[in-house]
Amino acid sequence: MADYDYDVLVIGAGPGGYVAAIRAAQLGLKTACAEGRETLGGTCLNVGCIPSKAMLHASEYYEAAAGGAMAAMGIKVKPELDLPTMHGQRKDAVKGLTGGIEFLFKKNKIDWLKGYAKFTAADTVEVAGKAVRAKNIIIATGSSVTPLPGVEVDNDKQIIVDSTGALELAKVPGHMVVIGGGVIGLELGSVWRRLGAKVTVVEFLDQILPGMDGDVRKEANRIFKKQGMEFKLKTKVTKAEVKGEKAVLTLEPAAGGDAETLDADVVLVSIGRRPNTDGLALDKAGLTVNKRGQIETDHDFRTSVAGIWAIGDVVPGPMLAHKAEDEGIACAENIAGQTGIVNHDVIPSVVYTWPEIAGVGLTEEAAKERGEVKVGKFPMMANSRAKTNHEPDGFVKVIADAKSDRVLGVWCIASVAGTMIAQAAQAMEFGATSEDIAYTCHAHPTHSEAIKEAAMAVTGKPIHI
Ligand code: FAD
Ligand code: NAI
Repeated sequence: MADYDYDVLVIGAGPGGYVAAIRAAQLGLKTACAEGRETLGGTCLNVGCIPSKAMLHASEYYEAAAGGAMAAMGIKVKPELDLPTMHGQRKDAVKGLTGGIEFLFKKNKIDWLKGYAKFTAADTVEVAGKAVRAKNIIIATGSSVTPLPGVEVDNDKQIIVDSTGALELAKVPGHMVVIGGGVIGLELGSVWRRLGAKVTVVEFLDQILPGMDGDVRKEANRIFKKQGMEFKLKTKVTKAEVKGEKAVLTLEPAAGGDAETLDADVVLVSIGRRPNTDGLALDKAGLTVNKRGQIETDHDFRTSVAGIWAIGDVVPGPMLAHKAEDEGIACAENIAGQTGIVNHDVIPSVVYTWPEIAGVGLTEEAAKERGEVKVGKFPMMANSRAKTNHEPDGFVKVIADAKSDRVLGVWCIASVAGTMIAQAAQAMEFGATSEDIAYTCHAHPTHSEAIKEAAMAVTGKPIHI
């Protein structure tokens, strides 16, 4: 190994980085991972996927009890909110899982270099004052919250917060204003609405959840409104001032016009995330970023500098944990001389609200731009399991190529859409037609039968509608 300290040095221990490190070690490469946080797991395990799902899960139970859904099934309870305990179970989930990664590092003999790494040369970084030289360096530094000018986040004060602050509120806000009707806004807005807050979502565009299928966006908006969320679409926030215990927001129509003000007890800024490259001294390695601040790579995750690779939120593509993980595995395999591939056309995305919202592949709008399509839709209202479980909202939509019948996209709104979408992703990965799905036997009674029926609807032959 000449005078290298490691075969592979990964910068960042999020789902991209820690998975890359584990795979590299499994493949026999001497591996280290630099991480500046106190615990491993990155955004996802510490302040993202995992703690948000812990709060979503617990608040779903609370709402089921408080909102009458349990009573409708013959279970009468008067719930009492114990927020410290709810936060406690969130912290336990994070502690358990981040500790699990530490265990996996030890098991795979991966050195955790504690500290933030910066390049001093293309094959050398400095971590905690020590130079470390590696044959291959994987940049997996992730992303952080995009700031909104005029709206300064201070998580400690718990008035204007980002997603990290919104996970930790010590009391349920009277009125929470969410800036940005994307995934974070809707998930964390749902948590606090379920626990009793009035929630207003201010969204710049004319509809929530940009990037998702048009029908899905409309139906999601209808469902969230029915749940009591308020929406100010085509609106931008230009200023937020903290006055005592409240924030006063200045809002304007996105297209320009008269300003209005809105008071909030808590403001959640969730207008997107941006790649973390500050402090890496990329110039010392000869690397640059694109206009969006991302590090560009080729299909193998090689950057423009030999021996430096990049994966996850810091490179282009959806900012999702499973995308980062798959890129981590593929990148390590490529470093080891294998053929690591990620099919970026088939990356599912899930919004963990109630009901869940999930999709994979093309939206109907994007598919139509490419050519003629056939679309099959099936309402969850007609799915026996969803109906029995008192979950009538939502639908499944299958979009197929009109000539070849190959499935181009699948979209679901259903209580378990996040689980259902896996079969759609697998079918698409295997190049399935809608007929392949329609003629696959699905267990009864399951929500997944709605995928089969939507596939049957592509050719106009569902059974239950
Ligand atoms: P990250 O997880 O951001 O990890 C990067 C790590 O690198 C960090 O720990 C950071 O400390 C470290 N680092 C940065 N710079 C350096 C340096 N110079 N030296 C050493 N270490 C460094 N995605 C989903 O798929 N499902 C979800 O349900 C989901 N929920 C989310 C909820 C919230 C509230 C948020 C904020 C995000 C959520 N995401 C979700 C997105 C997901 O967290 C990210 O896509 C994922 O974490 C990206 O992984 P990564 O490895 O690229 O980066
Ligand atoms: P997002 O990109 O999902 O949504 C941001 C929203 O803010 C968009 O609708 C955008 O139009 C709007 N917006 C932008 N500027 C605005 C302004 N000035 N005023 C009002 N609205 C404005 O970003 P979000 O929700 O912050 O999430 C960041 C990332 O984290 C996403 O890319 C997402 O993939 C990831 N994430 C994934 C989750 C999941 O997979 N379940 C959960 C949470 C986050």
